[in-house]
Amino acid sequence: MLRAAFQWLSDRKSVFRFVKRNRVANKIASRFVAGETIDSAIEASRPLNTKGITVSLDLLGESVKTTAETERARDGVIEALDAIASTGVAGNVSIKLSQMGLDIDQSLCSENMHSVLNRARDLDIFVRIDMESSAYVESTLRLFNEDLHPTFGDLVGVVIQSYLRRSEEDVTNLIASGARVRLCKGAYAEPAAIAFESKADIRSSYVRLLERLLDKGNYPAVATHDPRLINHAIDYVRRQQIPVERMEFQMLYGVRRDLQDWLRQQDFNVRVYIPFGTNWYPYLMRRLAERPANVSFMVASIVRESLSRR
Ligand code: FDA
Repeated sequence: MLRAAFQWLSDRKSVFRFVKRNRVANKIASRFVAGETIDSAIEASRPLNTKGITVSLDLLGESVKTTAETERARDGVIEALDAIASTGVAGNVSIKLSQMGLDIDQSLCSENMHSVLNRARDLDIFVRIDMESSAYVESTLRLFNEDLHPTFGDLVGVVIQSYLRRSEEDVTNLIASGARVRLCKGAYAEPAAIAFESKADIRSSYVRLLERLLDKGNYPAVATHDPRLINHAIDYVRRQQIPVERMEFQMLYGVRRDLQDWLRQQDFNVRVYIPFGTNWYPYLMRRLAERPANVSFMVASIVRESLSRR
């Protein structure tokens, strides 16, 4: 319910204009987003790298509607790859295919991705394709399985969401093709016909997929802040004697920094996902939907600020 409301809000440009001017909303956004420029993302990466934590930089943007916008996004991601290489930051990039034109034309999206991946290959930097709402899952996996992964191999990976009922089969196929997978719960509002709804079911699905990826996957990324799932992954790795360097934990910038540090101190590979860019509103809405405490605080502050302006 909360998720659906935030998904609806994330499509409202007028609300974004309002939120962008609001001081409290900006402050909350700055907890989850490094800043609006690539330099801010590089700066946010440095203290993490110092602790031995790697990063994945995400130029924010999604559901792009014109070819020119996709080209700007493509160039922005290439700029991020160049910045990683020139600054020596230990990191890679994450991309949403709807930012590269998946909504407009599959071949345009493929062309943009080939440009990005060619540069990534020159620089030897991995590229992760984020998973978006269910409207994009089939087309994302098709482009990945039939075009990008066969052409670029281990340079590119994808994401699986444990709340989707189809993910069991997708994981079987991705393990068979040797693809690199990030496993997360899933951040969008999806109907019960295609997605598990209860926390317990989403968690059980995560555990099933996690164990399969840890057993047979190619350097799986365990993306969650859920202590129960993290403990399960640690126990499983130890019980099955899986070398720690065969997997990594991933968390979001600004979320559970204590746990990020603790995992690194236990010698696990840890990567933090760092979003940056001007288009931070839909990302902020998804983070708020996961954390109701932030919502009431933000709404109350926005109302207070608007009333005091009158
Ligand atoms: P859960 O939501 O149960 O949170 C567990 C605990 O973490 C909470 O109790 C709280 O302490 C803390 N926490 C979680 N979210 C918080 C927040 N916003 N603010 C403050 N505390 C918070 N999704 C997707 O659909 N496609 C994708 O490509 C990705 N990619 C991705 C990359 C990485 C590195 C991560 C960590 C996550 C994603 N996600 C994603 C998001 C993911 O699907 C999911 O929505 C969030 O990670 C929240 O789920 P948790 O597993 O953390 O559990």
